[in-house]
Parts: sequence; structure tokens; C-alpha cells
Amino acid sequence: MGAGPGAGPAQDGDGATLREITLRLVSTPTGSGATAGPARPLRVAAGSARPPRVTAGSARPLRLAAGRARALGLPTRGTTNPNRLRRMDRWIAATLGGWLRGAEDPLVVDLGFGASAVTAVELAARLRRERADLRVVGVEIDPERVDAALASADPPALTFARGGFELAGLRPALVRAANVLRQYPPADAAQAWRTMRARLAPDGLIVEGTCDELGRRACWVLLDATGPRTLTFACQLAGLGRPSELAERLPKALIHRNVPGEPVHALLRDLDAAWDAAAPLRVYGPRQRWLATCAAVRQDWPVRDRAARWRHGELTVDWSAVA
Ligand SMILES: C[S@@+](CC[C@H](N)C(=O)[O-])C[C@H]1O[C@@H](n2cnc3c(N)ncnc32)[C@H](O)[C@@H]1O
Repeated sequence: MGAGPGAGPAQDGDGATLREITLRLVSTPTGSGATAGPARPLRVAAGSARPPRVTAGSARPLRLAAGRARALGLPTRGTTNPNRLRRMDRWIAATLGGWLRGAEDPLVVDLGFGASAVTAVELAARLRRERADLRVVGVEIDPERVDAALASADPPALTFARGGFELAGLRPALVRAANVLRQYPPADAAQAWRTMRARLAPDGLIVEGTCDELGRRACWVLLDATGPRTLTFACQLAGLGRPSELAERLPKALIHRNVPGEPVHALLRDLDAAWDAAAPLRVYGPRQRWLATCAAVRQDWPVRDRAARWRHGELTVDWSAVA
């Protein structure tokens, strides 16, 4: 059942870790927007890189102040797909929409949007239904991907900037980081969480997770400035063999913990047992079976959502359950 160390996509880059952060000094020609190159990698001690000054939400494309960008992290594979992040986005709109409507500055960062801007475009479209003045900034560490994305910019609703875990100097209310940390070693992913948390607006939130290529299976963590709050599983129920199949999509913080004796392993085991016990409900379809599974697991685990979300193939537990 467990997903082993090799379960995630292969790590790209030169194998450097965030502890030896790649400080990329990039010259940005005046007036050329948020991208530049070529990058000259330098290694510096973690924490010594200051974020660049970036203006978000203006009618013009974002610029990197003083022609220099320092982006924390490493470019990785840019794989993405239209609609791939719909489950995550639906959940954000449904569970965080009210909070976003009350946010002082509704600035959202889509970190690591990938080789195409499509999922950033989708995020902006979905969240602006919650709040018309919401702005999304797609932040990507690969300057060529930022360049390519500029054609999809729609300021101030959607802009793009080059940056990394320092969030391009922005102070967003919300960060969505999808399929970014899976490509980093676990210790670096933990450091990345800390770096991003420190850059949030007051009361800001991060949704960090992974999904499969078509977005049929996903897991994500909701974090605030103090740490992780919840873990969410989400899947297309048709075609789900057993809930533990979702282990393949566990966030980096948990994937190596899916071994006997660890809480996340016990949770997946209990989900499987409840799913098996609910087998007679198969005749009514996988949704009824999942609803019964979630209701059963809720007896023993700190489940944070209810049937209204379960029916979408989701289940959210308190982070304390798996910490
Ligand atoms: C697999 S793609 C994910 C694309 C999209 N978010 C999705 O889920 O479909 C990961 C992207 O994250 C970018 N990336 C990796 N580390 C980053 C960092 N520290 N800051 C910003 N982008 C980063 C990579 O360059 C790559 O384009």
C-alpha cells in the first residue's frame, strides 16, 4: 500500500538542496516585464537572500525591481494539464471562499505554474467568481516559462512574475503550490514550507499538494503561518480501487511516512477497512460507498469536513491526525 521513496516524479536540477539555496542573479532589461535570463547560479547560506521588490496588481506587467531577481528553489519539470487542478481549486473556492471574500488584500500566488499558464488562468477565473477584485500572480522559477505565460496575462486579474519560495517578494493572502514540492527532497520541502509561511500576509494560507496528470487523484495540505492545519484527499470515485491508492499522491511531508507504525499509514489502513466494509453499497455507486467510508472513519479520526464535501470524493482530516 505504501508509496516508497521512488514514488514521486524524479528530481530534476543539479541535485542541490535548498540548504545551499540557488541564488540566481538575473538582469532584467528595463521595461521587459517580469522575465530575464540567463541566470547565473550562486550558492549562498539559506535565509541570506532578500526577496526582490515586485509590484502586483498594477495594470502593467510585473517588473522585478532594480533589474535583479533572487528566486529560492530550482527549476523542475514543468508538466501541467488543463483542468488538472480543478479538485484543488473547487475545494479552495468552497472552503476558503468566504475567508477570501473577507481578506484585506485578496492577492493569490500560484507558485510553480509550469510549462503552460493554463492552471493559473483557471485559478484566477474560479476565484474571481468569489471576489471580483481578487488578483492572481503566477510565480515561476523558470524565466522562459514566465516569458511564455505573459501572453496569458490579464492585468490586474492575472499577472506573472519570476520567483521562488520567497514568493517574488509578494505578501499574498493565499498561495497555491501544486506539484512543486514533490520534486524536492523532503528536508528541502520542509524548508520551503517555512520560507513560504514566513512570507504570507497576516492570516495568510497555503494550499500545497500534488495530483496525477489528469487531476483524478490528489492530496493537499492547508497551512497557515504557524504550520499545517489539515490534510485533504480528493479523487474521482469511479475507478478508485481502494482509498490507499491515494498514497501515491501524498505530499512530500508524508510520502515517506506511509509505513506501518506511522499515523498516515494507519489512516489509510482504516479508510481501506471502512471501504471494504461498505462494499455492499457498491450497487448504489462509488459515491454512496465513499460517503459510508468517510462516516465510518469519522468515528475514530478528526475528520474536518462533512458529506457536502465527501460527495465530491474528498475527505479532510486535521493535521494532528497524521503529524
Ligand atoms: C510539475 S510543474 C507544476 C505545474 C502546475 N502547478 C501543475 O500542477 O500542473 C512544477 C513547476 O514548478 C516550478 N518550480 C519548482 N520549484 C519552484 C520554486 N521554488 N518556485 C517557483 N516555481 C518552482 C518548476 O519550474 C515547474 O515549472
